[in-house]
Amino acid sequence: MPDLFDIDDLDPAAWERVLRLALDDPPQKRLAGQGVALLFEKPSARTRNSTEMAVVDLGGHPVYIQGSEVGLDVRETAEDVARTLACYHRVLCARVFDHRLLPRMAAALSRSGFEAPVVNLLSDTAHPCQAVADVVTMREALGRLDGRVLTYVGDANNMARSLAKAGLLEGMEVRIASPAGYAFPAEELAALQAFADQLGRGGTVQLSDDPSQVAKDAAVLYTDVWTSMGQEAERARRLAAFEGFTVDDDLVDQAADDAIVLHCLPAHRGEEISDSVLEGPRSLVWRQAAHRRTAMRGILAWATEDGA
Ligand code: CP
Ligand code: NVA
Repeated sequence: MPDLFDIDDLDPAAWERVLRLALDDPPQKRLAGQGVALLFEKPSARTRNSTEMAVVDLGGHPVYIQGSEVGLDVRETAEDVARTLACYHRVLCARVFDHRLLPRMAAALSRSGFEAPVVNLLSDTAHPCQAVADVVTMREALGRLDGRVLTYVGDANNMARSLAKAGLLEGMEVRIASPAGYAFPAEELAALQAFADQLGRGGTVQLSDDPSQVAKDAAVLYTDVWTSMGQEAERARRLAAFEGFTVDDDLVDQAADDAIVLHCLPAHRGEEISDSVLEGPRSLVWRQAAHRRTAMRGILAWATEDGA
């Protein structure tokens, strides 16, 4: 099945196909008469609304389901929830705490002969749908991305991981600055570079603990919250650890002349990004948020394509 757990589920051909389908006129009838399950174990503003509207764009019917309603592994197993939802829906989209639930659900569907793909709407590990929207936004603003610098400043989290892979698929020079204790471990850096090498698009990835160093000549400055959903108990410790990692005007001044600033949102002004940068002329965060719908059309059209 064309499941999407993270960006590296897409080979270069599938990656280009998703982006192409995102920008093409929506295949209106693709989901005609069909449902799409949107299961959320965590809150959402952008992902729920953009995905619901993308399903409508493709002629389908979205059904929003709160995690507590179905109780993954509480009321019944995640496998049984998945197979139940697949009785009614063409695609299962889910935002989960534990990433491992997604392949478990997909495996159960496959074992039982269901054809519904599973799409990750954010897990503790990855946020691929956001990263597709980010590349749509970057390509629109900057044109060709290969060889350009994509700088992420902040927590080496779900967003950073999916964004880095998307940047490598684009052949970008990916730089990630995180404080000690919140960086990708050496083995994950090696895996990311191996992913880039296998793509053969010239992408590179490097880690740093110095935001100024990675911001130099960046075409894209990207950040995300320091405390992700589910980490709220760590907030005080994280606020202290990330001091000096705010994307502010001084940092933006070091980027390329045509640099853009992106943030997946929600934003915490004065923490990971200053108000003046978020509201400033480099910031494309609302265009980026709008492209969540563009991207979801591409992802859903790809996932339901014959032979995908
Ligand atoms: N960027 C993003 O996924 O936002 P939501 O959490 O509001 O869906
Ligand atoms: N890293 C953030 C992304 C929010 C869209 C989180 O997981 O909460």
